[in-house]
Amino acid sequence: MAELSLPFETRYFPVKKFLDMYQKSLEEPEEFWAEEARQLDWFRTWDKVLEWKPPFARWFVGGMLNASHICVDRHAKSWRRSKVAIYWEGEPGDSRVLSYSTLYREVNRCASVLRKCGIGKGDKVALYLPMIPELPIFMLACARIGAIHTVVFSGFGALALADRVNDIEAKLLVTADGGFRRGKIVPLKSIADEALTKCPSVEKVIVVKRAGVSVTMKSPKESWLDDLLEEAALFVEPEPVESNHPLYVLYTSGTTGKPKGVIHSTGGYLVHNCSAYRWVFNLQEESVYWCTADIGWVTGHSSIVYAPLAHGAATVIYEGAPDYPTIERWWDIIEKYGVTIFYTSPTAIRKFMGYGDEMLKKHDLSSLELLGSVGEPINPEAWLWFYRYVGGGSCPIVDTWGQTETGSALISPCPGIECVPLKPGSVTLPLPGVDADVVGEDGKPVPMEQRGFLVIKRPWPGMLLGIHGGPERYKKAYWSRFPGVYYTGDYAVRDEDGYFWILGRADEVLKVAGHRIGTAELEDVAISHPQIAEAAVVGKLHPVKGESIVIFARLEEGVTPSPDLKKDLAGHIRKALGPVAVPDEVYFVAKLPKTRSGTVMRRVLKAVANNTSLGDLTALEDESSVEEIIKAYQELKKGEVKKK
Ligand code: WTA
Repeated sequence: MAELSLPFETRYFPVKKFLDMYQKSLEEPEEFWAEEARQLDWFRTWDKVLEWKPPFARWFVGGMLNASHICVDRHAKSWRRSKVAIYWEGEPGDSRVLSYSTLYREVNRCASVLRKCGIGKGDKVALYLPMIPELPIFMLACARIGAIHTVVFSGFGALALADRVNDIEAKLLVTADGGFRRGKIVPLKSIADEALTKCPSVEKVIVVKRAGVSVTMKSPKESWLDDLLEEAALFVEPEPVESNHPLYVLYTSGTTGKPKGVIHSTGGYLVHNCSAYRWVFNLQEESVYWCTADIGWVTGHSSIVYAPLAHGAATVIYEGAPDYPTIERWWDIIEKYGVTIFYTSPTAIRKFMGYGDEMLKKHDLSSLELLGSVGEPINPEAWLWFYRYVGGGSCPIVDTWGQTETGSALISPCPGIECVPLKPGSVTLPLPGVDADVVGEDGKPVPMEQRGFLVIKRPWPGMLLGIHGGPERYKKAYWSRFPGVYYTGDYAVRDEDGYFWILGRADEVLKVAGHRIGTAELEDVAISHPQIAEAAVVGKLHPVKGESIVIFARLEEGVTPSPDLKKDLAGHIRKALGPVAVPDEVYFVAKLPKTRSGTVMRRVLKAVANNTSLGDLTALEDESSVEEIIKAYQELKKGEVKKK
């Protein structure tokens, strides 16, 4: 094989197998990915591995497959029919175990329900459900008939739900009467009712009975799932779709107020997903895989539903809060189901660190073989705590970097191939097929140890097809900053061994407890409050959540600032976007600091919020406004401290 210049120094690594595979993947990408794709079941083989018309990539063109067939049928028709597909644990303590044959039956019946509701290939279905088995069942039922699902995180409020349903023009919504969260019931149907007053595209609503709360069925277009299932067929032929038929659209936040509907393909996404989880997690049919993310985020789509089920593994789904009713809950679940792979977020790890390691000593966690972390940078202290106490010092930790747009992880250790030496806090090296780099403002690679922007220099199969309704937006968001390469929006640095360290977002996107929240989206909601004239949102470093939300707001003329108004604003945001978007701090100011061209100087607000130095303020229009803000901030801070 010809010598290839690898983006990292190899002399330290005794990992020849991994490096050979990586080298082959970049030298002969089409052969490499074709070999990976052959491991899935296709109804028809592709004509072309990759059609690359920058910045649009189409993988396995002409190939025909079906995601529900891959994740369910091929197991239900093998020895795995009686093997566990889903271990589900409800927050109140109820549980359900679904074998592959039960899952097959339920997916077929729900596909039949969807068909009878008039849903067909290409139609969009919104799923606003708690973490119950019906969520993956409906995702797979949609895939079975070629419908495209959009899962809306059940922690979102009415406005967030309505925006997503409207953007995708969903024909049908599946929701539940309610879901359990920290001992309380989240009234999903009532939130959906409020959203649906503004959603003309929705022709039919299916309601799953979960919480047993009374709900109002508003019109004949709304039905209980149980009633519809009575008429359901037991088999629906899986619809073969072309590899680039969208499997799902998932909304995520960017730098504008409007969330982006990221479109994922069926073939490329599944191929990448299956390979990535085999490489990163050594995912096998005998694995008991628990990812604690919510299915409403991309990690949940890939790690709870598509990857484990495609591999014929058992996936664990837990409905509720991590420490409810006690801090023993998660560790009970690992012990109860014999979890072998445990994948969670740095925020959760830091939260549990605060409780000490006594809770862990009471549990037998010896089934664990591998641990994973995702969604935000993990600090070495949290990494080491996770390694020592949860993994008992014997499980590798895969710190996996990925995005909604990337489908699966692109940078991570790969113990499923050969594990590189780990460094706490580093995502280590790119996966095979992934050409990642760190570049400066000019798009040129920066020297080792220097901060730059993380980019991916060639397409990969799990790459998004585009943004729903916005080819121009897609180009602008990802391909315009550095022409010809994918811009991730993250800062990163490579160390002397070529290991990647992710340093956080380089744009106006926050990561609050791992949740991706756009400041512009929050600002739009804040100013929709009748008494708020102008608002700017910034992130503040938070020891557990990574970042917390701080809002600086200018009030409408004549409105007096008050603690009640702050509460009211927080309530307004909670109702619209859900609890994840509620600010930790709100400051009312007389003026927001702006540049001469009128844009808010977030740098200043960030420094004020984080109590760090302000740096160079020469671009400020009016210096007094900064002083005013600092003064207002300090006074408010003093006031808050006194109150406590
Ligand atoms: C961040 C989540 C550091 C990053 C899967 C990225 C990470 C954003 C890591 C995407 C990691 C994800 N270390 N940062 N291991 N994984 N991120 O779309 O800023 O919700 O751009 O997908 O999360 O967030 P998203």
